[in-house]
Amino acid sequence: MTCNRRTVLATALAAAVTLSVPSAFAAKPLVIGFSQVGAESEWRTANTVSIKEAAKKEGITLKFADAQQKQENQVKAIRSFIAQRVDVIAFSPVVESGWDTVLREAKRANIPVILTDRAVNVSDPSLYVSFLGSDFVEEGRRAGRWLVERQKKAPDAVLNIVELQGTVGSAPALDRKKGFEEVIAGNPKLKVIRSQTGDFTRAKGKEVMEAFLKAEGKKINVLYAHNDDMAIGAIQAIEEAGLKPGKDILVISIDGVKGAFEAMISGKLNVTVECNPLLGPQLMQIAKDVVAKKPVPKRVVTQEGVFPAEVAAKEFPNRKY
Ligand code: AHR
Repeated sequence: MTCNRRTVLATALAAAVTLSVPSAFAAKPLVIGFSQVGAESEWRTANTVSIKEAAKKEGITLKFADAQQKQENQVKAIRSFIAQRVDVIAFSPVVESGWDTVLREAKRANIPVILTDRAVNVSDPSLYVSFLGSDFVEEGRRAGRWLVERQKKAPDAVLNIVELQGTVGSAPALDRKKGFEEVIAGNPKLKVIRSQTGDFTRAKGKEVMEAFLKAEGKKINVLYAHNDDMAIGAIQAIEEAGLKPGKDILVISIDGVKGAFEAMISGKLNVTVECNPLLGPQLMQIAKDVVAKKPVPKRVVTQEGVFPAEVAAKEFPNRKY
């Protein structure tokens, strides 16, 4: 073989090797295992859509599991993500406590965990790398502050409040109750006369409000619901009892979903405190940073507002969920 032919062959071989390298070592897409609470509310549906769309946009493979509001399903999903060796586990915990064991398993397997939407109560904060979500205590305070302001219209009247709590043991239920109570605490004219869970659903909200109305009747002046869906269910119960929601009974809720804006426009809901479900893009960014070994904030708080009925019609066209 002449020197020239050898050079041509060697060049061709090198070109073939170069061509095959990128496909053989192409970067694998990031894989996130995500355990969602369920599909209990309009908020949750928007949250799921946001997470799925953001993953798709970033080329991230999302393994999605719906826990149907059950902690045991979330524990199973997390264990299955560990077995599948996903790059990151993210989840929105149904309840706050009972996570130490499974999160230790994830840590032992070297899989970073990101909390989204709801917090956990764990003895070792290194069991998760970051928590992205709202300040639920502040949301409760905002609901309370709205009522305190409203009460100034008739300062001598006693207002009897019924409270529809979210899922028992969940961070938003515990914190929204706490924040609201903190604000009304020093006010003897604002009294919570009944408080029960409606599990964040319309059906339960209606059912529990029916029971409140049966027990207390016209004594009820205010309904404080931990989310819009329960408030919307309760509004139906109030109407069926022959009363006017928004007038005979003031209705305060949390989330700011389109359904709440519609209820405000029709005069049946007085105020909604915003809780932003569009967490997908930020979650994907945190996951990418964690895998790239970049520093990530331990806590990312979502920015939110308060929307009273007076601004509902103007704000409605801007609402994204
Ligand atoms: O964790 C967020 C809460 O969960 C939302 O307020 C509620 O609508 C949802 O079900």
